[in-house]
Amino acid sequence: MADQLKSNPVKPSEITPKHVYLSRRDFIKAAGVLAGSMALTSCLPQTVEPPSASTADPAIAKKTDELGDPVNSFDDITHYNNYYEFTTAKEGVAGLAAKFKTSPWQVEVSGLVSQPRTFSVEELIKRYPPEERIYRLRCVEAWSMVIPWVGFPLAKLLQEVEPTSAAKYVRFETLFNPEEMPAQKEKWYPWPYQEGLRLDEARHDLTLLATGLYGGELPAQSGGGLRLVVPWKYGFKSIKAIVKIELTATQPATLWSTIQPGEYGFYANVNPQVDHPRWSQASERRIGELARRETLPFNGYAEQVAELYEGMDLRKNY
Ligand code: MTE
Repeated sequence: MADQLKSNPVKPSEITPKHVYLSRRDFIKAAGVLAGSMALTSCLPQTVEPPSASTADPAIAKKTDELGDPVNSFDDITHYNNYYEFTTAKEGVAGLAAKFKTSPWQVEVSGLVSQPRTFSVEELIKRYPPEERIYRLRCVEAWSMVIPWVGFPLAKLLQEVEPTSAAKYVRFETLFNPEEMPAQKEKWYPWPYQEGLRLDEARHDLTLLATGLYGGELPAQSGGGLRLVVPWKYGFKSIKAIVKIELTATQPATLWSTIQPGEYGFYANVNPQVDHPRWSQASERRIGELARRETLPFNGYAEQVAELYEGMDLRKNY
């Protein structure tokens, strides 16, 4: 599956003229953006709609992450997706999500907070000027990409709602709407998708709420209207299409650790020394490359995040 994917850089001719897409993204611009078993392995053949590079910025395709590795093409990022609410076929998500409405979008923040509130994404973008963050995304299936997100630290939103002293965890929930997300009609998974973080992980500056990608809006297949990005954890923690954020006192259930606790833990920190029960995590394939590369502890973010786990046995807390 990953081997079948070609790297197709976005050609300038494929990019919709600015005036055509500006109306959809002027709220982002106005805010002054753009500084610069049951397993996660299935893949069925599926028809894919032609690539749409309408929101890609060609200058961003030339950027690298802080390790010097180039960002993946807009086409790779938006046509090789895991999004089980639509399909388990990675190359089929973009086509099936093409009509999914990502705007307007609202998120309810509730639970153990002094100021519970519902926010619109448009309001969040105005309130917290979007930043560009180029992060590696390492899927638990041992493939990876470098993705130029646009978003703001989750910490800013948490500060606004004032978690109480009893709050220890943050729980996230995806939209449940089987009419728009057809695979939610199937009972194989306990929908809606849910995920969680410890409060200190959620407050870490690397933890992002993404509202855009490649300098533009966040495509449906990438998690629009609002998506979590936690770059030092396996990709399944980075939940898409979030409509609820809840502060809790106890560790929340998550979709993957509920159905396969022996394979997918709550922490899910990228760790080349702890193999998945059915495959090694020591190396990975960067989409667009042929040779495998070594997987880095915490996906290369150890310097920033290892201290969060001091004193913990990361083999037990996988
Ligand atoms: N969020 C929801 N709601 N549903 C999903 O199926 N898949 C996860 C994560 N977030 C998933 C999700 C997995 S397994 C991965 S690897 C990443 O999204 C993939 O993100 P991408 O498709 O943008 O590369």
